[in-house]
Amino acid sequence: MPYTVPKLTDFSAATLDGAARELLSAVDQESAAIDSENDWKIFRDRWVARKNGLLTQVNELWLKAAPAPNKRDVGREVNLLRSVVEQRVELAHKRLLFKKATASVIVHPGIEVPAAEFEEYAKRVALTAQRLDITLPGIRRPIGVEHPVIKTMNEIIGVFRNLGYSVEEGPEIETDYYNFEALNFPPNHPARDTQDTLFIAGQESKPLRDRLLLRTHTSPVQIRTMQKMQPPVRVVCPGKVHRNDAPDATHSPIFHQVEGLAVDTNITFCDLKGTLDHAMKALFGSSVKTRFYPSFFPFTEPSADVQISCIFCDGKGVRDGAPCRNCKASGWIELLGCGMVDPNVYGFVDYDPAKVSGFAFGMGVERIAILKYGVDDIQLFFQGDVRFLEQFG
Ligand code: PHE
Repeated sequence: MPYTVPKLTDFSAATLDGAARELLSAVDQESAAIDSENDWKIFRDRWVARKNGLLTQVNELWLKAAPAPNKRDVGREVNLLRSVVEQRVELAHKRLLFKKATASVIVHPGIEVPAAEFEEYAKRVALTAQRLDITLPGIRRPIGVEHPVIKTMNEIIGVFRNLGYSVEEGPEIETDYYNFEALNFPPNHPARDTQDTLFIAGQESKPLRDRLLLRTHTSPVQIRTMQKMQPPVRVVCPGKVHRNDAPDATHSPIFHQVEGLAVDTNITFCDLKGTLDHAMKALFGSSVKTRFYPSFFPFTEPSADVQISCIFCDGKGVRDGAPCRNCKASGWIELLGCGMVDPNVYGFVDYDPAKVSGFAFGMGVERIAILKYGVDDIQLFFQGDVRFLEQFG
């Protein structure tokens, strides 16, 4: 059976290497059988004819069919094969002349090789064609960098680690109990609506507290932590959370939070203020001021929203003579929620509210990244556009 160029089933280096070897051994066999000028012409046209030569088929079946990520390597191999096969065709002709001649072969205008040394010469030429040039530039593999969301998350965690907090993680698929009930959201309480929860379907037969949902905050990790350890507790809970929000420049159905919890004896609102004021200064610079605004969360009482002085207009509300757009000219930017842990929550984890007190806080990582790095659309974090991401390298 004469050799035909096979289709490749995959384009790995090993497969390619095997196919190349087969092809070269076919060239060698056929060239050894050449006995006349006519044989050689048929041989030459069969391998290197532009229109339908086997090398052209190699181009079609191997290079053009290769998927994009393999193209470069396949291209390299196919080019190498081409030059080797072209050399072999040349050599076959020289060998033919050698068979006819007796004393020496003119291998190149001006180069005459004694007949006895021809095989040696042919080998050397063949080797030269396959030479590997180690001075060629290598294949560049770009080095990855931390994603800006992870980078920001680690910065936030770092601030609290330095204050002696440890890190706790928990499941992204939670039960109603951990996401709501143990956090003092009674069944059917309207505060549940503020969380835009995504529920797992088909669980109507289960009791409410066991039904699964995508956690809407990392607060359930705080419950899990209090269940497994006694005070003093100082933890941060970073992680991915989900809410049924339509994506736009400031919303994403998936985002990240870092929440924190400190429970001990005699923890007061002053500790909460001092801790968060320090954290905001560590994240945004020492000139940033904080302000605590009354708010509501079922699991904290009293609750507050923390605002920082606008980092774009230095809290003035005016920038370059125009009202600052980032703080809507108020001089303040709302950044996170916090409060003193509601005594009812301690009831769910068997802590004695008469003995311990504590505070909790929660912040959105993307929101902080947007402010820190001046990003104007939250979607950029999730689109995987390297031109955006590599700016954080
Ligand atoms: N869990 C709240 C949320 O995601 C944030 C928060 C945490 C508020 C801790 C107060 C205390 O909306």
